[in-house]
Amino acid sequence: MYDLPALREEFPVLSRCIYLDSASTSQTPRCAVEAMNSYFFDYAANHGRGAHHLARRTTGEYERTRRLLGEFLGVPEGNLVFTKNTTEAINLVARGICWQKGDEILTTDLEHHSNLVPWLALREQGVRVKILRQKNGYVTAEDLKEALSPATRLVAVNHVTNVLGTVQPVEEFARISHDQGVPILLDAAQSAGHMPLPPGKIFDYLALPGHKGLLGPQGTGALFISDPDSLAATCFGGGIVEEVTLDQFTLLPCPARFEPGTPNIPGVIGLGAAIDLVNRLTVRSVHGHETALGDLLRNGLMDIPGVTVYSPSRSTVISFNVASKKPDEVALLLDQKAGICVRSGMHCAQPLTTSLSPLGTVRASIGCYTTPEEIEALVGSVREIAG
Ligand code: ALA
Repeated sequence: MYDLPALREEFPVLSRCIYLDSASTSQTPRCAVEAMNSYFFDYAANHGRGAHHLARRTTGEYERTRRLLGEFLGVPEGNLVFTKNTTEAINLVARGICWQKGDEILTTDLEHHSNLVPWLALREQGVRVKILRQKNGYVTAEDLKEALSPATRLVAVNHVTNVLGTVQPVEEFARISHDQGVPILLDAAQSAGHMPLPPGKIFDYLALPGHKGLLGPQGTGALFISDPDSLAATCFGGGIVEEVTLDQFTLLPCPARFEPGTPNIPGVIGLGAAIDLVNRLTVRSVHGHETALGDLLRNGLMDIPGVTVYSPSRSTVISFNVASKKPDEVALLLDQKAGICVRSGMHCAQPLTTSLSPLGTVRASIGCYTTPEEIEALVGSVREIAG
C-alpha cells in the first residue's frame, strides 16, 4: 500500500472537502498541474509542426505520454489516438466504420450515454442496435453468445458500470465475439487506472478517459485502434495530411490521421505526469485500497434502516437512495452538512438509473486518495439524514 497522507498532499482541495465523485472526474494531482505549467511557461509550441527547439520539446513531451499510455495498456503506441474524452473516442469508432444497412451493433442496458447514444444515432443509417439485458448488474457470456448473429458488426460493452460498479467479464466477451469474427469495443471509462485491465490488444477498440482513474486533466482521453484501416477519418484539417494540392490530399497513417488540428497539448502532457504517478502507486495497490473502502462503504450503507443500496456486489461505485428523500436532496444535504461531494440523479446513464429508481440515485465513488475516515463520515451523515 502507498503512503496515503503523502499522496493526498498532491490534491490540495482534499483538505477542504470530502470528494466522493471520482467516477465523474478525478481530482488532478499537483504533478500533472506542474507539468502543464511547465509546458506553458517553459516551452509551449505546437505539436509536430516546426523544427525549432520549442516545437521539438513539445512534440517529445506529447509523444512521451503516448508511449507511457501504450505501455500502460499493453498496446503499440502507434495505434493510440488522443481524444478529448471517452465519448469522443467512441464516436471515432461509431462514425469511422463504414456501416451497411442492416448491420447490427450489440450493446447492453448497463451503458452510460457515451456508449449508447453514438450507436442509437446510427439508426438513421439503417443500423440496428440490439440491447443485451442485465440481470442484477451483469450481462452474461451466455446472453452475448445467444445474441450474436451473422448481422452483428460490433460488440460495444463497458468494463465497469458507472452506476453500480459491477465488473463485466470482458475477456470472455472478447473471446466469444472473436469466435464469431465480430470486433469488440471496450469502454474502460470506469476501470482504467482503478483496476488491472486485460491486455488492451485483445480488444479491437479500447476507449478510455484521461481524467478519471488515470488522474489526468479534464479534456483528455484516448482510443486504441487495433486495425487503423478499419476506421475512416471523420474530421479533416491540418496535422493529418501528407500532401495537399488544391484538388486532393493524402492522409498520414495512424495516429496522426485521427488527430486533426492542434490537440490538447498541455492536457496530454499533464496526463503523462499523472500516469507516472499512477505507475508509482501501482494499479494493483490502487485497486486493493479502493476495493477495501468500497466494502466499508457498501456494508455501512446497507446497515442503515431506510437506505436502499443498488450496487449488488463489491464495488468502488455505490448507488443508493434514502427512503422518502429525492437523490438531489440527499446530495445537497450531504454537501451542506458535511462538505461531502457525491453525484445524484441519472449519472449520464438514464436507462439503467431509471430502472433502479425513477428520480435516479445518489452515487458515491472512490478514488485512490479516499480515506476510511471519509467513508465513515459519509456513512454517518447518511445515517443522520435517514434518521
Ligand atoms: N460518465 C460520468 C459519470 O459517471 C460523467 O459521472
